[in-house]
Amino acid sequence: MQLLDLKDVVKDYPLGQTVVHALRGLDLAIEKGEIVAIMGPSGSGKSTLMHLLGALDTPTKGTASLEGHNLKELSEDELVTLRGRKVGFVFQTFNLIQALTAQQNVELPMIFLGARKSARAERARALLEKVGLGERVAHRPNELSGGERQRVAIARALANDPEIILADEPTGNLDSETGATILELLKKLSIDEGKTMILITHDPDAAAIASRIVRLRDGRVVQGVRNA
Ligand SMILES: Nc1ncnc2c1ncn2[C@@H]1O[C@H](COP(=O)(O)OP(=O)(O)OP(=O)(O)O)[C@@H](O)[C@H]1O
Ligand SMILES: [Mg+2]
Repeated sequence: MQLLDLKDVVKDYPLGQTVVHALRGLDLAIEKGEIVAIMGPSGSGKSTLMHLLGALDTPTKGTASLEGHNLKELSEDELVTLRGRKVGFVFQTFNLIQALTAQQNVELPMIFLGARKSARAERARALLEKVGLGERVAHRPNELSGGERQRVAIARALANDPEIILADEPTGNLDSETGATILELLKKLSIDEGKTMILITHDPDAAAIASRIVRLRDGRVVQGVRNA
């Protein structure tokens, strides 16, 4: 069984009297432990694909499944639980909560799954330690550098020990040196912990850590090239 399996996926967005065909018959299977870079021109369907891979949305036609669960057959509550347990998200703009400390930001996803206070505080500190921020647990986002904010976001993505990390332009707001350290960290997590990593990126340096590059054009996969 593939970890993620999309078969002949069509995604249409209704727009007034018309319909936008964002994905037009897309096939993609991703195995556990892969690092996949998704590249393609603006409007080619990358974010739409990311929403399906992260169980944030369901296809108009075709099937999308995560660990054998067909997303279309799940209720909204079941989708929420599935993505809470299986997927960690990392965004270009970090999406941290400004009023909360680094530790509290990392604890948030654990609160949604009902972890006890002492357990989640301990785990949040351990995760921040793992991403090199053991000394920054009490800092708020505006008291951290861009690279440090993205590390907090990565620690948060790991909070519920997900199978998959989905990152949309994770280095897009960072200078190249800081971006390189973030990519190193993502690669290390994939290798050391077997996390499946899916990176949407325009950055050739980001694509270089991938074991496979998937290129999209007009809502379809144009080629899948093995890097290594
Ligand atoms: N909610 C929506 N309603 C209508 N059309 C949409 C919606 N979201 C995306 N689209 C359209 O679907 C197509 C694919 O959009 P998508 O956001 O997946 O592209 P992308 O590859 O992520 O582009 P970018 O690199 O600019 O982020 C585009 O033509 C876009 O205009
Ligand atoms: Mg996009």
